[in-house]
Amino acid sequence: MTEKTARSNLAFPHRHLLGIEGLSPDEITLLLDLSEAYVEQNRLEDKKKSTLRGRTLINLFFETSTRTRTSFELAGKRLGADVINMSIATSSIKKGETLLDTAITLNAMHPDVLVVRHPYSGAVKLLSEKVNCAVINGGDGSHEHPTQALLDALTIRRRLGRLSKLTVAICGDVLHSRVARSNIHLLNTMGAHVRVVAPPTLLPASIGRLGVEVFHDMREGLRGCDIVMMLRLQTERMKGSFVPSIREYFHFFGLDYDKLSVAKEDALIMHPGPMNRGIEIDSELADDVGRSVIQEQVEMGVAVRMACLETLASNGVVGSAR
Ligand code: NCD
Repeated sequence: MTEKTARSNLAFPHRHLLGIEGLSPDEITLLLDLSEAYVEQNRLEDKKKSTLRGRTLINLFFETSTRTRTSFELAGKRLGADVINMSIATSSIKKGETLLDTAITLNAMHPDVLVVRHPYSGAVKLLSEKVNCAVINGGDGSHEHPTQALLDALTIRRRLGRLSKLTVAICGDVLHSRVARSNIHLLNTMGAHVRVVAPPTLLPASIGRLGVEVFHDMREGLRGCDIVMMLRLQTERMKGSFVPSIREYFHFFGLDYDKLSVAKEDALIMHPGPMNRGIEIDSELADDVGRSVIQEQVEMGVAVRMACLETLASNGVVGSAR
C-alpha cells in the first residue's frame, strides 16, 4: 500500500460512487479540488498521464448517452487505463441475459472500475453488491447522476468562486430527473439555497422532504437567483401526458431572455444536455456565451470523471482482496 493510496482512502472512504446523498462537504470538496488539476491538464497538448496504467475501466450503458459515456471514456484513456465500452445493442443483454449475470460475467474479467447507466433507479447499487471492483453510477433511472452534479458544482465554483449561499433555481422536469436529485443533494450539502421551479405535474410527491423551496411560476422562482439550471423535458420517461402542449410549456416554463431578466444581472444558465431547443430553453439564449455555461459543463465533465476514477481506483487497491 503506497502512502498516496492510504491517504486518498482515508479522505474518501467509499468503495463506490453511487450517489451524492450521504457524501460529506469535505468529500465533495476533495473530488472538486482534484478535478481542478485535471481541467488544466486537459487543456495541454499532451493530455495523457499514467496514473491508471494497467487498470481496466468498463463502461456499461443500458441507456443511450453521448456526453457521459464519451466523457468517461476520455477520462479513463487520459489517465492511461484500458477502456472497454459495452454496447447493449450488440451484447448478450439482447439475448435475455439478466443484469446480474452480465455483472458477474464482467466481474470475472477483473475490471477495476465499472461505470454503469441503467433505466431503473437502484439497479446500479444492486449491481455494485455483486462485483469486486469500484462502481460509478452513470445515471440510474430518475434516482441519481453523481458525476453530473459534481461537474455542475465545479462549473459553478470556478465561475463564482463558491457554492455556499448561492441561490440556484432548478427548473423543469424535476420529476423524471436524476440530475435534479443529485444537484439538490450536493447544493444543499455545500450550503447553497435551492429552488425548484416546475408545474405541479412535473414535481415528485416527495419534493417537500428534499429541503428546497418550490415555485410554480418562473418569474417568482428566478427572481434574484445566481444560477438557472434548466432540465430537459424527459418525454421518454413519461407514461401519459404531463404537459398540455409543448407550446404552452415553453410559454410558461421555457427559459427566454424575458423570464431571465428577473434573475441576477450576471446569472449563469446551465443545462446538462441534451437540450430540447425551443421547448425548455430558447435556442439563442442557449448559445449566448455571455450567459450560458453549457459547453463549459461538458469540459468540466471530463476533469470530474478523471478525479472520480483516480480516487476510486486507488481506494480499490486498499479495499479489495486482489
Ligand atoms: C442527463 C441524464 O442522462 O440524466 N444527461 C446527461 O447525463 N448529460 C439529463 C438528460 O438526459 O436530460
